[in-house]
Amino acid sequence: MSVPAVTSLRAEPSLLTVRWNDGTIGEFASIWLRDNLPEDREQPSGQRVVDVADLPRDPRIRAAELNGAAASISWQDEARVSSIALDWLYDYASGRQHAAEREQRPWLEGSSLSAQKDFGWLTCSQLHSDERARLEWSTRLLQDGLAFLREVPRVEGTILEAMGLVGFVAETNYGALFDVRVVEQPENLAFSDRGLGLHADNPYREPVPGFQALHTLLAAPDRGDSLFADGIALATQLRAIDPEAFTLLTRTPVPFRYRGTGADLYAERPLIELSCTGEIAAVAYNNRSIQPLRLPPAQCRAFYAAYRRFAELLREPRFQLATRLEGGDLALFDNQRILHGRTGFASARHPRHLQGCYLTRDSVYSKTALLRQRLHGDPR
Ligand SMILES: [Fe+2]
Repeated sequence: MSVPAVTSLRAEPSLLTVRWNDGTIGEFASIWLRDNLPEDREQPSGQRVVDVADLPRDPRIRAAELNGAAASISWQDEARVSSIALDWLYDYASGRQHAAEREQRPWLEGSSLSAQKDFGWLTCSQLHSDERARLEWSTRLLQDGLAFLREVPRVEGTILEAMGLVGFVAETNYGALFDVRVVEQPENLAFSDRGLGLHADNPYREPVPGFQALHTLLAAPDRGDSLFADGIALATQLRAIDPEAFTLLTRTPVPFRYRGTGADLYAERPLIELSCTGEIAAVAYNNRSIQPLRLPPAQCRAFYAAYRRFAELLREPRFQLATRLEGGDLALFDNQRILHGRTGFASARHPRHLQGCYLTRDSVYSKTALLRQRLHGDPR
């Protein structure tokens, strides 16, 4: 990717200011520059070999000048002259270091969208054989939180082979994959023919499963639609219409538990999780596995009012994307962002069989980034 030319470089003891001819201005604190000098990183790992406590407390720039594609910086109290690549500085000044797959595209009104037309689709053979198509598809998966495959062979276990190209499968007490079909006396209501409201899977795990894949081996002929909603867009909506409820749901720890054969899992987390900068990072809504809250009555009443408000939003049909997955279709979604559910179906007349697995969240980003770097030579 080409970088505009530098039009000026201005050094003050504690600040370097760089201007590029596209109007970008970068201001870099001397302590930040001193901590990020290329000579203090070992190659090829790129890992820093000095600790912040090794740095001068108040590094002061003596002078800076352009030297080809780099800025040469000399320091007031040290003999070293440092060389910092201008395109590297430009990435930080322009915000360009954000890769395409990190640009989340929230979607709120799911009912106005078509799963077929508005989300990424790929055939299983394209996933295997066409790396460019796989990159485009996985980038959309990360932006929208949801994407689909078709023509995935309807053979048990195929899901693991396909998902191995997308990320690392995470084993649980169910093993590498789980079957979603009706069983007698189910340990989990997913293994019944009941409809399931929108939810995130397994908030009782640490961490909550990252991505979830569901492969339809046998579709129910007339009912059993899949439902999806963007939980982060819904939480954003709650913040807009009822900020107090939103804040309560971000601050109240909710206990989740699963007890079944071979596992006793427990975790506490808020229904809406914020990042350290206050952005909505995850939604852990799952009414089936919430345990009794330990709250004094007044706080308890306030929490329930907020909880209901959010639950009512989730039930609004306009926020739900409904689609029928056919045999061979596979839905893949970010389980920390996209809520999913299904309508009920008549299991006696129409058996339905899905196989599912979880993928670690970071591995899906990682495989996408590696593919982008290999195909486009983009080092971000
Ligand atoms: Fe689920």
